[in-house]
Amino acid sequence: MATIYIAYGSVEGQTARIAEYIADVIRAHGHEAETADLKQAPNSIPDGQDGVIVAASVHVGKHEGYVADFVHNNRRAVSHQRRNTD
Ligand SMILES: Cc1cc2nc3c(=O)[nH]c(=O)nc-3n(C[C@H](O)[C@H](O)[C@H](O)COP(=O)(O)O)c2cc1C
Repeated sequence: MATIYIAYGSVEGQTARIAEYIADVIRAHGHEAETADLKQAPNSIPDGQDGVIVAASVHVGKHEGYVADFVHNNRRAVSHQRRNTD
C-alpha cells in the first residue's frame, strides 16, 4: 500500500475537485491519499509519503504563487524518483 499526498492550488475550485477525485481513485485502489489546499496547508510535505502529486490551475499564464513556493521549498522531494525493484 502506498501513501500519496496531493497538494493543490485552486482559485475557482476546479483543481480542488480534480484533486479530490484523484484521491478517491487512489483510495479505490487500496492506497491512502491525503489532499491539501496549499492556500492553507503547511509549506512542507508530511513525513511518510510514498508519492506527491502537485495540481495547480493557471491564471494569466501563471500558477498561484503559493504553489510555486511549495514546489520550490520541496523541490528535492518532488523531483525524487523511487524505482520499484520488485
Ligand atoms: C481570470 C482568469 C484567467 C485565466 N488564465 C488562464 C491562462 O492564462 N491559461 C490557461 O490555460 N487557463 C486560464 N484560465 C482558465 C483556468 O485555469 C481554468 O478555469 C481552471 O479550471 C481554473 O481552475 P481552478 O478553479 O482550480 O482555479 C483563466 C481563468 C480565469 C478566470
